[in-house]
Amino acid sequence: MNTLRPVGIIGTGMYVPEKVLTNADLEKMVDTNDEWIVSRTGIRERHIAADDQATSDLCYEAAVKALESAGMTADQLDLIIVATITPDTFFPSTACILQDKLGAKKAAAFDLSAACSGFVYGLATASNFIGSGMYNNALVIGADCLSRITDYTDRNTCVLFGDGAGAVILGEVPEGRGFQSFDLGAEGAGGTLLKLEAGGSRMPASVETVEGKKHYIYMNGREVFKFAVRVMNTATGDALKKAGKTKEDIDLFVPHQANIRIIQSAMERLELSESKVVVNVDKYANTSAASIPLALVEAAEQGRIKEGDCVLMVGFGGGLTWGASVLIW
Ligand SMILES: CC(C)(COP(=O)(O)OP(=O)(O)OC[C@H]1O[C@@H](n2cnc3c(N)ncnc32)[C@H](O)[C@@H]1OP(=O)(O)O)[C@@H](O)C(=O)NCCC(=O)NCCS
Repeated sequence: MNTLRPVGIIGTGMYVPEKVLTNADLEKMVDTNDEWIVSRTGIRERHIAADDQATSDLCYEAAVKALESAGMTADQLDLIIVATITPDTFFPSTACILQDKLGAKKAAAFDLSAACSGFVYGLATASNFIGSGMYNNALVIGADCLSRITDYTDRNTCVLFGDGAGAVILGEVPEGRGFQSFDLGAEGAGGTLLKLEAGGSRMPASVETVEGKKHYIYMNGREVFKFAVRVMNTATGDALKKAGKTKEDIDLFVPHQANIRIIQSAMERLELSESKVVVNVDKYANTSAASIPLALVEAAEQGRIKEGDCVLMVGFGGGLTWGASVLIW
């Protein structure tokens, strides 16, 4: 990374809502079964936000923990970026709502939309603000309430998603540590494979859009699967190359938690043993922008990352987008 000073993670926090929706629960809602879900996706359960919780509430819980772990108070924050595709409202942004809740009075705040790649996009954005000297620190959160845009009568999608938030504080770190590279990309031509059609300026909300179920996630699973396997390979390769690292250098691989089979195909390509790969898709399902930070923060809390470890993160998702990063912890 070509920045004036090294930037890395100096605090972490995560939050998932209390309510758990298991595969057995879903068996009662749609024509599916635990065996199908586990064998095709690796998912056993997912957490679902309570009726009175919105994305900013999940963000708040994760942010408070991240600030505490960094030994900081909210009024010290320079910047807040919330990566999400399920903001509380179109505007004000979830980042602004969170800024108020935290009392982070001097922080600039904005949302970032890159679906499941959003957290890595957010890290790249914030680390450049800090690396350039414009800001000294930033709170970057990946958070989504996908349950709010999931059709629980559609077995093709409703088994796949969950809610959560993962937060990190970025700041200056010692020489040789922190972010070594980012590889971000987009393939807008594939945007229609994974989308939420209505509610924007193209197709504003109407009785017809509600009746036509156009406020729910639409996904072409097979095509997204192929895209995911392809870009997990190319993005990780490019991020490693930019960092001057090889797959042998990886101490911990933190992939987007969408599907265990996609993770396994990346593991095989990178020749990684299970001990070097974070998998929690079984507990949380696909939480979109929250997926990578939930995996990263949980691994850190479990003591699976030590100082100086080489961490490789990679995400892919709607847009279509992807993002990978090499980080020395
Ligand atoms: C969605 C996904 C798990 C489906 O797995 P798959 O092996 O491709 O399954 P298919 O799409 O071939 O569907 C096989 C059959 O299972 C059925 N099926 C779909 N969902 C089901 C469910 N929950 N329970 C039981 N059967 C189901 C389908 O209707 C289909 O039946 P048919 O052959 O009679 O039409 C897989 O395509 C996937 O993970 N895609 C990527 C998704 C992703 O990562 N999205 C997020 C990107 S950020």
